[in-house]
Amino acid sequence: MPAVRTLPDLSAPSVRTEVPGPRSRAIHERRMRTVARGVGSILPVYIEHADGPWVTDVDGNRFLDLGSGIGVTTLGHVNPAATAAAAAQLDRVTHTLFTVTPYEGYVRLAERLAEKTPGDHEKRSIFVNSGAEAVENAVKIARRHTGRRVVAALDHAFHGRTNLTLAMNHKAAYGTGFGPFASDIHRVPNSYPYRDGLTGEQAAQRTITHLEQRIGVADLAAVIAEPIQGEGGFVVPADGYLPALQEWCTRNGVVFIADEIQTGLGRTGTWFVSEHFGVVPDLVLTAKAIAAGLPLAGVTGRAEIMDAPDPGSLGGTFGGNPVSIAAALAVFDELDDGRFFAAALRIGEKLQRGLSDLASRHPLIGDVRGVGAMYAFELSEPGTTRPAAGAASAIAEFAAQHGILLLTAGSDSNVIRFLPTLTTTDDHLGIALDVIDRALATLD
Ligand SMILES: Cc1ncc(COP(=O)(O)O)c(C=O)c1O
Repeated sequence: MPAVRTLPDLSAPSVRTEVPGPRSRAIHERRMRTVARGVGSILPVYIEHADGPWVTDVDGNRFLDLGSGIGVTTLGHVNPAATAAAAAQLDRVTHTLFTVTPYEGYVRLAERLAEKTPGDHEKRSIFVNSGAEAVENAVKIARRHTGRRVVAALDHAFHGRTNLTLAMNHKAAYGTGFGPFASDIHRVPNSYPYRDGLTGEQAAQRTITHLEQRIGVADLAAVIAEPIQGEGGFVVPADGYLPALQEWCTRNGVVFIADEIQTGLGRTGTWFVSEHFGVVPDLVLTAKAIAAGLPLAGVTGRAEIMDAPDPGSLGGTFGGNPVSIAAALAVFDELDDGRFFAAALRIGEKLQRGLSDLASRHPLIGDVRGVGAMYAFELSEPGTTRPAAGAASAIAEFAAQHGILLLTAGSDSNVIRFLPTLTTTDDHLGIALDVIDRALATLD
């Protein structure tokens, strides 16, 4: 009789070795001799395969991935529809360069983005390779359209690691030693209700006062905002903040750019989180989850703004690669049927309940916040809003040892953020919350 093949138990993480295990450590030693130090790894376990919410390393340890490669594998690792679409495309055309001889997929994806980004105005899109490149292009387009030079980003912002985007980031550490930086970039206060206690209207007025006094409308091309700040610590602005800022931009001919690179495409239970806040940005930036793990990013926006640059002035060799585009079209089809939006909302409710319960028992948790499958808790010295130094990294380290992959965030590195795949069940989250409870108990 043939041996019965037992399927792995995919209901729980499984840690069989030390973390990192011996095989990961051996690869890591080779890596340190060949890969530049500046490319760090949060948890140097070397991944051999991934499936749904799970990643399995070369030592056979299976981790529940609550970071999704920083918000990329939103539909689950190795989403079957996206993989099949990309594989089929690999057999047809892998590259021609859209700016040499175009292909329909690029046009189809622009149509899909025009349908799904907020607002029913006429839109245009371009496709590039990375989030930072989308930000760079949005700045080029906004400057060309307005004829103005200054761009304002918000405190606690993160927009990438290219030279221009380094100038836009809040946290100096990303740019240390890499200057000089691009000029004509200003940072202005954001809305951070847990820390500033302001209403949306008050926070917007503070931002607008800075824009008017320190920059001046005549020189201001664009304001760029992550509607929920990602690396900055999942900072959810107070109600009314973003609509007031957008309204001011519209009134003053300033391009309002929503960086939805981390928040977009189903993550928060809608196509774009701008919908949640009731804003219709002039330009919307996409990347990360758009092609289920293949490199692709986009800028989508009002036709009259997007069409300002002359033919030939936008593009790049790999921008809008046909294989990535095929995967992205499958992502749009997957999102169309609504089940992933429902999953994001379910995850948000579970995290809200679970994290509030932890907050009621662990005084280190100062704030719980988020929308859909983008949730976080901020760790503060009990009874204050002063960041609790070292607590977030200690929790992430404890979790990793117990098979849970957690990401930290925040300008003070005192936030634990959840960016689970939308294939994560309530039972998986229950396991993770239990591990975090135990981690917090070691710090109380
Ligand atoms: C909000 C936001 N904008 C821009 C970027 C940069 O994207 P990329 O790393 O693809 O260049 C990121 C990356 O984390 C991000 O979270």
